[in-house]
Amino acid sequence: MLESRLSFPADFYWGTATAAYQIEGAVSVDGRGPSIWDTFSHLDGRIARGHNGDIAADHYHRWQEDIKLMKRLHVNAYRFSISWSRILPTGRGAVNPKGLDFYNRLVDGLLDAGITPFVTLYHWDLPQPLEDEGGWLRRDVVDDFVAYTDVVSRALGDRVKHWVTINEPWVFSWLGYFTGMHAPGNMSGNPMLALQAGHHGLLAHGMALPILRANTPDARVGIALSLTHVDPASDRPEDIAAARRYDGYNNRWYLDALFHGKYPEDMLETYRPFLPEFQPHDLEIIARPMDFLGVNYYTRLVIADEPEQFGLQLKTVEQTGEPTHMGWEVYPDGLTALLRCIHEDYGPNAIYVTENGAAFEDEVTLEGRIHDHKRVDYLRKHLAAASKAIEEGIPLKGYFAWSLLDNFEWAEGYDKRFGLYYVDYATQERTLKDSGRFFAQVAEGAILPTS
Ligand code: FCB
Repeated sequence: MLESRLSFPADFYWGTATAAYQIEGAVSVDGRGPSIWDTFSHLDGRIARGHNGDIAADHYHRWQEDIKLMKRLHVNAYRFSISWSRILPTGRGAVNPKGLDFYNRLVDGLLDAGITPFVTLYHWDLPQPLEDEGGWLRRDVVDDFVAYTDVVSRALGDRVKHWVTINEPWVFSWLGYFTGMHAPGNMSGNPMLALQAGHHGLLAHGMALPILRANTPDARVGIALSLTHVDPASDRPEDIAAARRYDGYNNRWYLDALFHGKYPEDMLETYRPFLPEFQPHDLEIIARPMDFLGVNYYTRLVIADEPEQFGLQLKTVEQTGEPTHMGWEVYPDGLTALLRCIHEDYGPNAIYVTENGAAFEDEVTLEGRIHDHKRVDYLRKHLAAASKAIEEGIPLKGYFAWSLLDNFEWAEGYDKRFGLYYVDYATQERTLKDSGRFFAQVAEGAILPTS
């Protein structure tokens, strides 16, 4: 077998990632309350084929089997999220002990298996009663998040050392409160709402940091951002400026706030008519030091100027690389370039790729195998790109493949499969895909098998 050595250090975290609503199911079991994703996924026409997360991959009942699946992958880390409404069924107040028990068992099971838990506190499933009061548009949601963080970290902080506060504020604020593609489905088309929701997300992150540190000896805390490498469609100054605006909208808005304690000047100018109120010390709180930055990377975008377009006056241009089932271009060089920019412009102490992976249409052969060579190829190229970043001196300390197993892909439902394990939703049977075999070899030996 041909292989090439990679520059991943011995203490590198190799993991897979998931999120509660995408895998757990058991939405009304053991006292769990409804979240905005329960409500949203049951609205007519919002999710492809009318799918919802009621059962998902039934991980709530199959977590022990799922830990065995991780062992088979030779991973030493697992990133998962906590369902807020399992812990606090109405969002605040009385704690549901059965909810905490579930995560206690899961954490213990992971540690017994030699797998380090990385816990995300918020992966988009806000308790519905909090949304009824205004959700992320309401500043007091920050206090609710802090109280929830306190409950969870008191319970798990003796064993969980790695905390991700919030997953992808860009996604849940713009898709949740501007386009309405995601829960709570607010199609306001008003940038002010997205900016307000996102600001509260960042503030919640900053406010949670001292709580996590107080409740967790040796805490390592960070946030996970959806970051995209952006290229201009041509060398025309207009296209270069448009690409810069997109970069400001998707990347710099969050990175500048978190690392420099200010929103980027050019974007403040662009958003001027839509800026919500920020209170004087908010940005100091948002920029409290973190131990790591989580980077969720899937693709790049090529951007052209489009004066006719409302808002940012730009458009995405057809890309050249192969598209995945999501339509996202396979573009591994973007990962190295993105990590380089982050390292140079913001200098986080440590970076984890907290998500990277691809949906492709999987076929199960008569022998029950899934020869997903396109996903293998995607992983191979992105791992090589990550290895290159390490060679350049970028402090990349871990890589989490999205995802452990096929799951509920939000507005896309179950058709988009990202798993290293195939899930037959009729039986809940899990089958290792070729990509899972490949990833196991890499995680075990830090080598890239080429055949
Ligand atoms: C990210 C989400 C994750 C998953 C992947 C494909 O934006 O964080 O839950 O859906 O995309």
